[in-house]
Amino acid sequence: MSQRDGFEFEDLQGLLRFGHGRLSEACFMLLKVVDPEAAREWLLKAPVTDASSRTPLPQAAMQIAFSAEGLRVLGIDEAVIEGFSDEFIVGMTGDESRSRRLGDSGGSAPEHWRWGGDPAATPHILLLHYALPGGLQTQRASVEDDRFDAAFELIEILPTRDLGGIEHFGFADGISQPKIDWQQRQSTDLHHRDRYSNRLAVGETVLGYANEYGLYTDRPLIDPRRDERAAILADAEDLPGLKDFARNGCYLVLRQLAQDVSGFWRFLDQQSGGDAERREGLAASMVGRERDGTPLMKTGGDPIPGVAPEQQGNQFTYDADPGGHRCPLGAHIRRANPRSGDFPPGVTGFFSRLIKIFGFGQRRADEDLVASTRFHRLLRRGRPYGPPLTPEAALETDPPQAERGLHFICLVANISRQFEFVQDTWSMNSRFNGMRQESDPLLGGREPLINGENSDCFRLGQTDGPARKVCGLPRFVRVRGGGYFFMPGMRALKYIASLSAADGGAGR
Ligand code: HEM
Repeated sequence: MSQRDGFEFEDLQGLLRFGHGRLSEACFMLLKVVDPEAAREWLLKAPVTDASSRTPLPQAAMQIAFSAEGLRVLGIDEAVIEGFSDEFIVGMTGDESRSRRLGDSGGSAPEHWRWGGDPAATPHILLLHYALPGGLQTQRASVEDDRFDAAFELIEILPTRDLGGIEHFGFADGISQPKIDWQQRQSTDLHHRDRYSNRLAVGETVLGYANEYGLYTDRPLIDPRRDERAAILADAEDLPGLKDFARNGCYLVLRQLAQDVSGFWRFLDQQSGGDAERREGLAASMVGRERDGTPLMKTGGDPIPGVAPEQQGNQFTYDADPGGHRCPLGAHIRRANPRSGDFPPGVTGFFSRLIKIFGFGQRRADEDLVASTRFHRLLRRGRPYGPPLTPEAALETDPPQAERGLHFICLVANISRQFEFVQDTWSMNSRFNGMRQESDPLLGGREPLINGENSDCFRLGQTDGPARKVCGLPRFVRVRGGGYFFMPGMRALKYIASLSAADGGAGR
């Protein structure tokens, strides 16, 4: 397979390269393996979609990911599983401190989840189906043969709903995504990049490649002398004597997030005294974009590396707005991606860089919390579910009741440094960017902190007056399920399918 100049897309699952946006029907199946032998036989022939080509445009796609327990049940050697990160092995709900840090408490606590809440009943396999309108049933039927029925028990099926690129609160979604540097042309030198760049090293999303530190993320490597089946795997780039089980794979984080759409718009309406313009303005401040996706920060200026010219709505940073007067410091998109470079704005010359590298000079309260966004990016692949409810309908008396929300999905090479960091240190943190008593206005759990301090406020800097503080925000988003999965490369899938009950692989 080609490397470097032509990325080995044929070994990558398609979802990493394409969002499958054109395939607007989708459903996600959570499966338990009941017959490992039948499961491996099914896997051997499963039409998993790779990332090699978009021509001809596919009618449907299928991707597959495994939990640590799923890999174990299918016969992957424990020594290989130990090569994965702790958070993947332990799982999203495996320890209380993780749940607390992710904000999974109160009404979002794992014991209330529909699926994934009980570590002993974690799904083994996540099967993601995508199809053109009207094609989903055919797509499912094409893989659900007798072997499939014998191999798996369906734990839960997560349907999705095509809302035309809008999430349930009414905002355009999926606008900002990191651009992966597939050709590996951009330097990953530490302290090299003064400014925010949207282009990301392959190793930030795909395992087996150098990441933004110029290093290889820990992952399972197999000694081919101890397991000859591993010969079909690629060599580890950093340790060529070993085979790389995780190369061209990535972690997949799935969270089922129920959205209280009428609660959201009612609260905003009440805060705005029923004035539609003020209501829209407050909603946009909470997200950091207007409903049509227009960012509150002015776009334009110097082009940002990795942002395509046609992606105008994404061509901005917060450098010119350190006080959060245009876009609140706590707005959802500013927390989730503060768009900072390796140095705070203004540190450009050789000497001022040196001073910062050695930790001298005057420090702003927010510097540490928002430094170097490039180490904390997420490739989002989520889909909404449940019937739509427009903001106007949400404000009527007795709006139609139904569960609606987002199946949030992100693909990362490091769950703790990327997803958990963004969720915990940036989104849920009541002291993010020097603030107090706030958490993400969309995602926050609003529970009082251990020291008794509130976390249910949202502060808006005004361009023409003192900051406004809105308090008493209810919880708008509730977690209903979740799990950490590993989405292998195509060669690793073949390796899994080649195992037998008697002999699993052998780790390094
Ligand atoms: C129901 C829950 C959520 C809703 C309604 C929501 C909504 C949105 C919207 C409307 C945008 C702006 C569109 C865009 O830039 O693509 C956005 C961006 C984003 N969201 Fe969320 N989101 C949710 C959950 C999450 C979670 C759980 C995370 C991560 C922990 C997250 C991370 C991000 C990121 C990284 C961006 C892009 C920010 C940027 O690069 O400017 N979101 N979200």
